[in-house]
Amino acid sequence: MNPFNPTFGDVPKIFLDRSKQLNTVIKSLEESVSPYQTTFVYGLRGSGKTTFLSDISNQMSKKDNWIVINLAVEEDLLITLVKLIYVRMSNKFRKIFDQLDWHFEAW
Ligand SMILES: Nc1ncnc2c1ncn2[C@@H]1O[C@H](COP(=O)(O)OP(=O)(O)O)[C@@H](O)[C@H]1O
Ligand SMILES: [Mg+2]
Repeated sequence: MNPFNPTFGDVPKIFLDRSKQLNTVIKSLEESVSPYQTTFVYGLRGSGKTTFLSDISNQMSKKDNWIVINLAVEEDLLITLVKLIYVRMSNKFRKIFDQLDWHFEAW
């Protein structure tokens, strides 16, 4: 079965309500210890994984104390992550960060 059916932004005729699953993940992300801190979303092509992850990242982005970064598996994954954290951190933290005396070894 391949339920993939690109709608290019149209609202689908049948909308599967995933708000319960969405809230479970969002609530758990804010808890200090929760198995959902690392969540593996899998399923058939077209079953709504990307949409589900976008919904989570949109909701988390609205929160002041969260930095949301979407990474694609490509080269320089770690460097991209650090760069984006730096770019998106609040000015207050960037000031502290810039004052740190870094001693990097080659790795
Ligand atoms: N909750 C939902 N109910 C109905 N259709 C949905 C839902 N979530 C996503 N879709 C639609 O299903 C199609 C595939 O979604 P997508 O998130 O790209 O799937 P995947 O990433 O798993 O391949 C898109 O056209 C999208 O609009
Ligand atoms: Mg996808």
